[in-house]
Amino acid sequence: MAFDVETIRAEFPILGRQIHGKPLVYLDSAASAQKPRAVIQAMTSVMENGYANVHRGLYTLANEVTEAFEKSRDSVAKFLNADTSEIVFTKGATEGINLVASGLGQSLVAGDEIVLTEMEHHANIVPWHFLRERLGVVLKFVPVLDDGQLDLDAYQAMLGPRTRVVGLSHMSNVLGTVNPVRDMISMARSVGAICLIDGCQAVVHLEVDVKALDADFYVFSGHKLYGPTGIGVLYGKSERLNALPPYQGGGEMISQVSLDKITYADPPHRFEAGTPPIVEVIGLGAAIAWLSQFDRAVVQAHEHALYARLLAGVSGMNSLSILGEAPGKGAIMSFNLAGAHAHDVAQILDRYGVAVRAGSHCAEPLMSRFGVTSSARASFAIYNTEGDVDAFIDALDRTQSFFS
Ligand code: ALA
Repeated sequence: MAFDVETIRAEFPILGRQIHGKPLVYLDSAASAQKPRAVIQAMTSVMENGYANVHRGLYTLANEVTEAFEKSRDSVAKFLNADTSEIVFTKGATEGINLVASGLGQSLVAGDEIVLTEMEHHANIVPWHFLRERLGVVLKFVPVLDDGQLDLDAYQAMLGPRTRVVGLSHMSNVLGTVNPVRDMISMARSVGAICLIDGCQAVVHLEVDVKALDADFYVFSGHKLYGPTGIGVLYGKSERLNALPPYQGGGEMISQVSLDKITYADPPHRFEAGTPPIVEVIGLGAAIAWLSQFDRAVVQAHEHALYARLLAGVSGMNSLSILGEAPGKGAIMSFNLAGAHAHDVAQILDRYGVAVRAGSHCAEPLMSRFGVTSSARASFAIYNTEGDVDAFIDALDRTQSFFS
């Protein structure tokens, strides 16, 4: 479908809202994206017309909803260029990483090394700290350079015979840096490490092919991809998922249970204990179908053009400092205004109808790396316009005058 931002906006009911009497300028899609009608209607429709539990029923409704549920799994697989059996539904990217860390942890021992980066979201740090506390594994962090790129020489030097796992963000939620994950995975292969990629931001803005990347595991959340909350995806290579022990026990993840023995279902069901988030899975399928109608390269060019317009518009603002200026970065601007706390900046911007996130962005090690405790962050999505950028620049200009 041809890309027309006004037509796209009309599909997002919330974008018609006013905030403090001003049109909503939503620049917090990196935290959570708004939802198109296609997603809202798919979720409403299943609850109104086709709801039952999945995988258990022998009646028409149950069969229909099971088919819709599994069709979403097929869509996710196609979206990532994976096989259907390699797609595990989780409640979010965070659960996907915890699942992998907990499973891999069962075969790690003290002194084994896990290589992460300083730009990871806490979701890709804390589960590995659990293993450090419990098992004595060693965490190493690839440094971030001043412009927001990873120090690849340091990364190369960190890889060694004890490296068991490499965990990397595909695109930073703070800096917008797009990391060269394909090359970094290939470097990790030379020491036999298993690679997990946090794709929460990347899947929204880039075409992701997990086979071309050669990722062992790749996670993302539905709610940043114009889909619902409460649903995420864990991709795992077949051989990796087959080797991974179950994460939670319960219904539907077993092959057989007796009073003295259990055998487990094959992946992906081994990792989906209990009734899954049925409506959310169907909503995620609708989100992927909706996004897939556009040429992703055109959408990316639109977002980059907005970012370039923003950079040009703020170039004269001396009190503004931006975190991360890596070449090819995505349309995310984390920033501070001299003399202002990021929370105050966000609250003043809100008076002008502009929604941005402020805080540590669940990336405290990265904040420390840049010598700050917080920043404000504007992030762009498919539905943002040049008008949004101009309104933001104007509001930012007014905000900085409070502090000068
Ligand atoms: N991880 C999300 C963000 O970056 C919530 O805002």
